Amino acid sequence: MKHDHPFIHHFQNSFSRKSFVKLVLSKKRVKTTLIKIVTLKPVQLKDKIMVSIVISNQNNDLTKNFTLEQSVLQLLNLLDKDFYKADLFTLEKDWHLLYYRSGKFKMKSKPATFHVADTMHDQLKKRILDSHNNIYLEQLGVTTKEGYVKKRKQSKYRQINKYVEIVDSILRTSQLPESFNVIDMGAGKGYLTFALYDYLYNKLRKKPHVLGVELRSELVEKCNAIAKKAKFDHLNFEQGEIKNAILPRIDVLIALHACDIATDHAIARGIKSNAKVILVAPCCHKQIRKSMKNQGPLAILTKFGIMKARQAEILTDTIRALILESYGYQTKVFEFIETDHTPKNILITALKTKEIFVPDLAILDKVNTLKSTFGIAFQELEHLLDIKT
Ligand SMILES: C[S@@+](CC[C@H](N)C(=O)[O-])C[C@H]1O[C@@H](n2cnc3c(N)ncnc32)[C@H](O)[C@@H]1O
Repeated sequence: MKHDHPFIHHFQNSFSRKSFVKLVLSKKRVKTTLIKIVTLKPVQLKDKIMVSIVISNQNNDLTKNFTLEQSVLQLLNLLDKDFYKADLFTLEKDWHLLYYRSGKFKMKSKPATFHVADTMHDQLKKRILDSHNNIYLEQLGVTTKEGYVKKRKQSKYRQINKYVEIVDSILRTSQLPESFNVIDMGAGKGYLTFALYDYLYNKLRKKPHVLGVELRSELVEKCNAIAKKAKFDHLNFEQGEIKNAILPRIDVLIALHACDIATDHAIARGIKSNAKVILVAPCCHKQIRKSMKNQGPLAILTKFGIMKARQAEILTDTIRALILESYGYQTKVFEFIETDHTPKNILITALKTKEIFVPDLAILDKVNTLKSTFGIAFQELEHLLDIKT
């Protein structure tokens, strides 16, 4: 497929005219590849509109943002190598492209599925959380008194909205009791805790109790004062440590950017309480980094510091995800915000789908293979859950 293909023109033109809604690639060329479907959508980043490409695999979604030119190159490549079918939805028309094994193709148009309410402009402007008359956003310094998002807080505001969107999609598929508890471990300044509470109460009309646990007492005091001002009666913050804070029953456990093994303590507490939803964004993977002793041909992979750090990250989070699976959680690992905001953007989401309380040994075997391959003695979560391997 070439740049001057009419389908590519339709995509470029719709993007320029702001009528591009989405483009979906499907019908795999090679049945055994893990990649299932790819979706392109417009996304507003800072001052420019880009194309967000979501690659959906069996277990996770990978999202990256590209300029229009870059996305065209990605699209050409994906259509040449991975997919036979592409469906482009614009406000004017839908375009359907199908390739045959012979290399020939057919393309047809249909009346538009999406209409003005779905326009790129409207979609992009619409954020889940209202910034106007929003006491906590103002108190946290995200918005002005008049309710406008401050320029330097735009990406924080986007991050908060994105996070709520993700939690929402998980909560909708979970079976939570009528009254449930959400525990946010290492709540920090509370941006995300407040946003989640706001969303659950004011948009979803749910009535959970939300508790933020935080080590630093000055942040706890500040957050409790804001919660009072905002009249968020079922939200409170307590000073404590993730590993031993006294908690009510955990239904939804959240730990975003809790350092190193603090994430393991949070996951372990979630698993032990049979939490229905666990959502963690790990950071600083020191524990495994210190104990990794790659052997044989793999030894070279730890020669360069940054590469060792990346491996430690991949190994730690893979092991955490596998352990969650072994306890009956349907687990996904994906990137959750644009990388120019923070490099710490891996999110592990886990939804309890099997009522098992003893880990699945076949999955733990995979953990063992990984550990022995990379010369790792243990990963902290195993210790905390008393997993003997
Ligand atoms: C990087 S901040 C993240 C804050 C918030 N979760 C967010 O994503 O915006 C990490 C917070 O976790 C707190 N923290 C770190 N270790 C902790 C522990 N063991 N117990 C409780 N809080 C902890 C820190 O004090 C800090 O406020």
